[in-house]
Amino acid sequence: MILEVNNLSKKYGKLEVLKNISFTINKGEYVAVVGKNGAGKSTLLNILLGLVAADSGEIKIFEKNLENNITFILSKIGIVFQQHTLDFDLTAKKNLLFYADIHGMKRSSSKIKIEKLLKRFELQNFENYRARDLSGGMKRRLEIARALLKDPDFLILDEATSGLDPSARELILNDIKKLTKEDKITVLTITHLENEITDVDRVIKIEKGKII
Ligand SMILES: Nc1ncnc2c1ncn2[C@@H]1O[C@H](COP(=O)(O)OP(=O)(O)OP(=O)(O)O)[C@@H](O)[C@H]1O
Ligand SMILES: [Mg+2]
Repeated sequence: MILEVNNLSKKYGKLEVLKNISFTINKGEYVAVVGKNGAGKSTLLNILLGLVAADSGEIKIFEKNLENNITFILSKIGIVFQQHTLDFDLTAKKNLLFYADIHGMKRSSSKIKIEKLLKRFELQNFENYRARDLSGGMKRRLEIARALLKDPDFLILDEATSGLDPSARELILNDIKKLTKEDKITVLTITHLENEITDVDRVIKIEKGKII
C-alpha cells in the first residue's frame, strides 16, 4: 500500500472542509481525486504532505505513519502544486539544477538526468528561457520534470492542467499516463475537471468534504 487515509477530518473555524475521509492507494495505481472548487482537495493534499495538521484521523504513506516519518516520506514523493512554484527569474534548466542541488544530488548525475527530462518533456529548445517566459503548458511540464528529478515512488499533482488550452492539456495528460504505465510510478492526480479523468484506474469523488 502506498497511501492509507483513515477517518480524516479537518475544520477551518466552523467550516468543515474534510469529513471523515478514508481511502487507500495501491502501488502502481493511477488514482484521481475529483471534486468541485472548494470541495477540500488541496486541503487534503496539504495534510498528506504534512503542511497542514488534520483535526483527527490517521495517514500512512509507504506503510509508515506520516507524523513520525515526514522527512523520509517527502524524500520519496514528487509534487506538483496547484499554484506555480517555479523561480520565474531562473531559466528552465536552472530551475531543475537548483532543485537538484538543494536535494543534494551530485552535479555529475543531475546534469545527465536534467538533459533527459528536458528532452522527455519537449523543453530542450527552451532550456535557456526564463521560467516566466514559458507558456502555461511548458511551465507545468517543467514542474512535472522537476518533480521527477528524485525518481519518486509516488507522484501527486494538484490541478496539473488548469488554465491550459486543450492541446497543452492533452500533452500533459499523456505524459502522466506514460508515467503510470511505462515508468510504473503511483500517481494521484487532483482535479475539478471531471471530463479529464480518462484512463485512470480509480476515481475518488469528493463533495463538500466527503467521499461520495
Ligand atoms: N488556510 C485556510 N483557512 C481557512 N479556510 C481555508 C483555508 N484553506 C482552505 N480553506 C477553505 O477550505 C475549503 C476547501 O478549500 P480547498 O482549497 O481545499 O478546495 P479545493 O477542492 O482544492 O478547491 P479548488 O478546486 O478551487 O482548488 C474552501 O472553502 C476554502 O476557502
Ligand atoms: Mg485546490
